[in-house]
Amino acid sequence: MGKNILITGGAGFIGSHVVRRFVRNYPDYKIVNLDSLTYAGNLENLKDVESADNYSFERADILDTERLKSIFQEYKIDAVIHLAAESHVDRSISDPLAFVQTNVLGTANLLNVAKAYWGDDLSDKKFYHISTDEVYGSLGEEGLFTETTAYDPRSPYSASKASSDHFVRAYWHTYNLPVVISNCSNNYGSHQFPEKLIPLFIHNIRNKKDLPVYGKGENIRDWLWVEDHASAIDTIFHKGRLGETYNIGGLNEWKNIDLIHLLCKLMDEKLDRKAGESAELITYVKDRAGHDMRYAIDADKLASELGWKPSIQFEEGLSKTIDWYLENDEWLEHVTSGEYQKYYEQQYDLR
Ligand code: NAD
Ligand code: TYD
Repeated sequence: MGKNILITGGAGFIGSHVVRRFVRNYPDYKIVNLDSLTYAGNLENLKDVESADNYSFERADILDTERLKSIFQEYKIDAVIHLAAESHVDRSISDPLAFVQTNVLGTANLLNVAKAYWGDDLSDKKFYHISTDEVYGSLGEEGLFTETTAYDPRSPYSASKASSDHFVRAYWHTYNLPVVISNCSNNYGSHQFPEKLIPLFIHNIRNKKDLPVYGKGENIRDWLWVEDHASAIDTIFHKGRLGETYNIGGLNEWKNIDLIHLLCKLMDEKLDRKAGESAELITYVKDRAGHDMRYAIDADKLASELGWKPSIQFEEGLSKTIDWYLENDEWLEHVTSGEYQKYYEQQYDLR
């Protein structure tokens, strides 16, 4: 039996990996990628699947109720995988309302359109909401986030994602909308916009530009290969229990500065630079406001209930990631021109 799946935010970093995986692995499904193509959306991410028979693209904003209604009708959508979002913490600090608009109102709008279109016929329907571990707040030295950790978001980004998660659960409890949610740790891999730590630093090392480390570089993140996130999304979409939440993580915690030193070492080797050359670019800058100290995920529920586990070790994934950015100069050039330059100069006060 075929399925008509609406994937929102499919032109972004994680969304493009999810779209690619579903288009390739499920020829019986019809995949509709809905994306408004903000600075972070890039159809170049999907060149390899754009002419597949089971793929369509719709440029639309999740805030646009009438467009959403007509897309649900046109494609007879019976499942949603919702990734469209404003996703960068630093941008949320300088422009919080954009995050309220897309992440909170946009998600509520999408839920409402799905509910109205599906009506009482909820068999074989699914609304899968993709969220982040940042909704749980910040950890001290010990402990991991589980699915029952109380929400404690601390940045405008995480507050907007937490709010969207609450709306998704409210639609499950109030209207029986068949939902499932996952909260994932930091992703890394190809096609990530170079404002996030890893692609930004690869780009800067390549171009011998400073590496702006916030604070003392002691904050800790739990890094997951983006293709492993896509495989977890596939597993949860097909096997996850309705109304449930699944945490996704790689059991792979790194202090920022240690990760940056590893990145510098790998880049020195790949670029035939002398050992230690890239690390000289490290520059400590003013800390991010409200910078969460540590995120770390307990993904045991996903492993024990649905049998998912990550496929790749961090050093191998990081090495592959660097290779991809070094081999895809043109992609980087396209996404680092124009608007992005302006943002970069403002963020790091380079005007
Ligand atoms: P991204 O910024 O790379 O992509 C977001 C996509 O959404 C872009 O293609 C953008 O054009 C689109 N979009 C933004 N606003 C829209 C709107 N109003 N209407 C339609 N499309 C819109 O983000 P990402 O890193 O791929 O993250 C995808 C999802 O995964 C987000 O919901 C994010 O919160 C979540 N997440 C990300 C990470 C991570 O490490 N990147 C970790 C856990 C969860
Ligand atoms: P980021 O990739 O923005 O992800 P998130 O804030 O969602 O975890 O940042 C990862 C870590 O790297 C975070 O602790 C902030 C830090 N960081 C820097 O030190 N310098 C930078 O220029 C950036 C973008 C991030």
